[in-house]
Amino acid sequence: MARPDTVIVLAAGQGTRMKTGWAKVMAPLCGRPLIAWVLDQALALEPRRVLVVVGYRADEVRKAVEKHPASGAVIECVLQAEQRGTGHAVQCCLPQLADAKGPVVLLYGDMPLLSSASLKRLCDEQLASAGGMALLTSRPHDPRGFGRIVRGADGAVQRIVEEKDADAATRAIDEVNLGVYCFDAGLLREALPALQPNNAQRELYVTDVVAHFVAARRAVRAVEVADELEAIGINTLKHLSEARVAAQERILDEHLARGVYIEDPATTYIDYGVTIGAGTIIEPCTVIRAGAAIGAGCHVGPFAHIGPDTTLEDGAEIGNFVETKRSRIGAKTKAKHLAYIGDGRIGARCNIGAGTIFANYDGKKKSITTVHDGAFVGSGSVLVAPCEIGAGAYTGAGAVVTRNSKLEPGAVWVGVPARKLRAGPSESTGESKDVRKDQSKA
Ligand code: UD1
Ligand code: CA
Repeated sequence: MARPDTVIVLAAGQGTRMKTGWAKVMAPLCGRPLIAWVLDQALALEPRRVLVVVGYRADEVRKAVEKHPASGAVIECVLQAEQRGTGHAVQCCLPQLADAKGPVVLLYGDMPLLSSASLKRLCDEQLASAGGMALLTSRPHDPRGFGRIVRGADGAVQRIVEEKDADAATRAIDEVNLGVYCFDAGLLREALPALQPNNAQRELYVTDVVAHFVAARRAVRAVEVADELEAIGINTLKHLSEARVAAQERILDEHLARGVYIEDPATTYIDYGVTIGAGTIIEPCTVIRAGAAIGAGCHVGPFAHIGPDTTLEDGAEIGNFVETKRSRIGAKTKAKHLAYIGDGRIGARCNIGAGTIFANYDGKKKSITTVHDGAFVGSGSVLVAPCEIGAGAYTGAGAVVTRNSKLEPGAVWVGVPARKLRAGPSESTGESKDVRKDQSKA
């Protein structure tokens, strides 16, 4: 593969067409911001460095860039204080480009679904152009305001015309610019200072660099992308929702291919980066958020919400209307109905009865509830954190275990506030088995 020297990612724009006030590249797509998707694309090309142009809400975007695992070593942010167009944004990188020893790839931060196969084809075409440039194009059913690719009589690309600047005949062209380019660095450096804001938006367009390559008699190679989904650029919230559907399908397909049975993909929402073991069943209307890790042979749903940073160990079962968050749920532990498990540390083979609440928040801070192996939490229990339920201990139905309570192994606590009804086997002869028969099974 032809490796670029530098990949530039444009992420300075506000995205006024989104009407949200957010920095557009911070818009969430399956649990991570757009910028994270685009950084992955950039890094897959193994460049010497990645320059991210930030501007609108720059600090927020910078933080998101720094959060990326590959940040630091190769990724650097460049400030575009005033947003005067895509050409101006690339001009802001000119000081860094002075020492570029190979081709420069340009990506826009609002095209999260491009495949690395298309980007590799782009770089290979640029290499074959011997000092020219390559760009990605497509022929979508709906041009959606993209720039049009104008070709000469010989079929060669001559220039790109923005929809806002196009006459009717140009608008009728069905080939559009995806905004993804690979340039010879020397000619790019030459072309950038010459850009002029001679257009409807009074901006500097990087697309005008194409005409500079043509004038210099260097090849401009168009690489057509066949899959329309790759070309979903996000200018509006409607586009974001379309991209979400496409990204979600990719994520679910990967899980299905690895042996996770997702009964109804249409009503299952799984964020990017969630891991799920083989043989796990996901029933309909289930939401699994970023940072979740689900083991093998688990059963989740229907109507379950596996919140951020939840770990389910092998064989765990989370059923109807159960929400989990920042919690570890041990192997073969079950919470089958109507529960909230927040900041829980639950061991193996526990039963969390219907209607159990982990009261993890006291209005100021969140605290941890620990439930040890084999414990049985009766229906409707409230466990006020921090508290600890010992191995094999029981709480009676409706028990309110107050803050700082510590149930010793095998003990039985009941009532409001919960008090010890029977001691565990370590303290007495151990009658807890009889009590279990009295407990309603969840
Ligand atoms: C751009 C292209 C258009 C192409 C389309 C494909 C230009 C002039 N037009 O239009 O031909 O069909 O993308 O997606 O390039 N940005 C900055 N600084 C700025 C302006 C923009 O960093 O001053 C960033 C934005 O944050 C965004 C990207 O550049 O990530 C593209 O800008 P946008 O305004 O979305 O361009 P389009 O109108 O979509
Ligand atoms: Ca755009």
